[in-house]
Amino acid sequence: MYTQSLDLAGPPQAEADPETDRVIHRDTRQAAFDARIAADAKIEPQDWMPDAYRKTLVRQISQHAHSEIIGMQPEGNWISRAPSLKRKAILLAKVQDEGGHGLYLYSAAETLNVSRDDLVEALHTGRAKYSSIFNYPTLTWADVGVIGWLVDGAAIMNQVPLCRCSYGPYARAMIRICKEESFHQRQGFDALRAMMGGTEAQRAMVQDAVDRWWFPVLMMFGPPDAASPNSTQTMAWGIKRISNDDLRQKFVDATVEQARVLGVTLPDPGLQWNEARGHYDFSPLDWDEFRRVLNGDGPCNRERLATRVRAHEEGEWVREAAMAHARRRNGDDSGECDAR
Ligand code: 3HC
Repeated sequence: MYTQSLDLAGPPQAEADPETDRVIHRDTRQAAFDARIAADAKIEPQDWMPDAYRKTLVRQISQHAHSEIIGMQPEGNWISRAPSLKRKAILLAKVQDEGGHGLYLYSAAETLNVSRDDLVEALHTGRAKYSSIFNYPTLTWADVGVIGWLVDGAAIMNQVPLCRCSYGPYARAMIRICKEESFHQRQGFDALRAMMGGTEAQRAMVQDAVDRWWFPVLMMFGPPDAASPNSTQTMAWGIKRISNDDLRQKFVDATVEQARVLGVTLPDPGLQWNEARGHYDFSPLDWDEFRRVLNGDGPCNRERLATRVRAHEEGEWVREAAMAHARRRNGDDSGECDAR
């Protein structure tokens, strides 16, 4: 998928054009970059790009990759306890998809001249962020359905516009990811519908899960626009296409009707249709809680990171074996793996 010619030397201030031997200055390149952004054309890995654009993409794409990988944990926790073979098979496929999304996204980030090892180390040492939502616990089977319906639903709302991101490899990765996410969202809704058609205890379990996840899900979209340090520039570059608040509002508007069909109550007394705005109003969110979670003090931050680091360490022999296999296939094996 990411097989563009990856001639990725860092951006020099000035360099010679091999055709004319004339020095091309940064200003010329900046103007060409600006023109491509203004024309809504894609920037590809081999194109010159400003350092700040590159850094922003590395930040956002790697945080996104980390979110997908850490996001395997809350639901992975329920694979061994799924209530039927059908639900178990679906959940296994879904969690595997999330791992795949992480891999597409690390690959997209690598086209920006960063190493995957460095990105992973930033996650493991707590220097890199991942989505706040995955620091909340999955207490019952209903949480798995609610993650599919609401968390994946919010992820799709945020990620469909990223299919039009100005950076080609990220945009193309997002197309496939969004297709898979829409299956994730539907399977969550389907699991919850089955529970809502079940016993009183099952319906209560679904309502309890909705009560616990609703507000953290709304925070997934990021801080309010006025408190979002990155939005103005990333929107000017065509990376983000719709602001945090606008996406949050679109998600609320779309979800109210789904909740009605499901038969659950969204736990916000301030949620009501505003005829003048043509949108639902909702209560202010607890941004102190959001900041606490981002600063490593959410309900599961420590557990999530420790589990990830342990999995990485315990998987070292797999990476070594894969590298040895790749060397052998390329014919440059030193012979240490000859015994079969
Ligand atoms: N969780 C953790 N950090 C968050 C956050 C959240 N929900 N929302 C915002 N932040 C961070 C930002 O990363 C930024 O941190 P930094 O400047 O130190 O890197 C800071 O808070 C300020 O926020 P901004 O609004 O200025 O940041 P952005 O412009 O980057 O917007 C974003 C944040 C909307 C999350 C944007 O980065 C984005 O759209 N990212 C791509 C999608 C993504 O990463 N989604 C994560 C969920 S993936 C998922 O849900 C998996 C699926 O399988 C369910």
